[in-house]
Amino acid sequence: MAHGRFVSFEGIDGCGKSTHAARIAKHFEKMGFEVAFVRDPGSTRLSEEIRALLLDPKNSDMARECELLLYEAARAQLVAEVIKPALRRGAWVIADRFFDSTTAYQGGGRAIDAAFIKGANELGSLGVVPDLTFILDLPVEEAARRRGEDSDRIELEGGSFAETVREAYLALAEAEGKRVCVIDASGSEDDTFAQVVEVLRARFGRKRA
Ligand code: TMP
Repeated sequence: MAHGRFVSFEGIDGCGKSTHAARIAKHFEKMGFEVAFVRDPGSTRLSEEIRALLLDPKNSDMARECELLLYEAARAQLVAEVIKPALRRGAWVIADRFFDSTTAYQGGGRAIDAAFIKGANELGSLGVVPDLTFILDLPVEEAARRRGEDSDRIELEGGSFAETVREAYLALAEAEGKRVCVIDASGSEDDTFAQVVEVLRARFGRKRA
């Protein structure tokens, strides 16, 4: 049976991962592959409704455990409804965030116990693991500058929260060097994109990437 490939993009808010995930999705489409481009949380009706709850600054009283479970709930629906069927069809799945965001934000940023995060991630992802994960890394101040003014509930946490999230991402890359690749995103958009394409080619071959 055909089985597709799953590539996820990660990083602190303002790192440029959404731009690069979208560019890579287009890149694969141009090469003639079927692509499922998704954002987590989101990309299904239910997951988008959960996303709106999660990001609404009005919900500033949300308990961190509620936050964790809502991210996992949104992800479970996304995997069941979109990601698993796409992989079964042999498509490329390109994801703007996946369970590593939970490790970095709820595990790092919110300091929820690592064992809970691991179990929750296994449940929320229905056991699906990306083949390759990019962390677009850049200093917190530069990310804040690129992000501009508008802030959702998580972005309102500010600089030291983002610093903790960044550190958690870098620790994750150390621990899972085979799957997780850190890209220096402090240069131009084209420079970052070239690095991403190079890693994809090295991993999957020129014909496939
Ligand atoms: P986005 O704006 O990059 O799509 O992400 C939405 C926000 O949700 C962003 O601030 C990161 C945060 N987030 C978590 O805290 N935990 C998660 O598991 C995910 C997927 C996102």
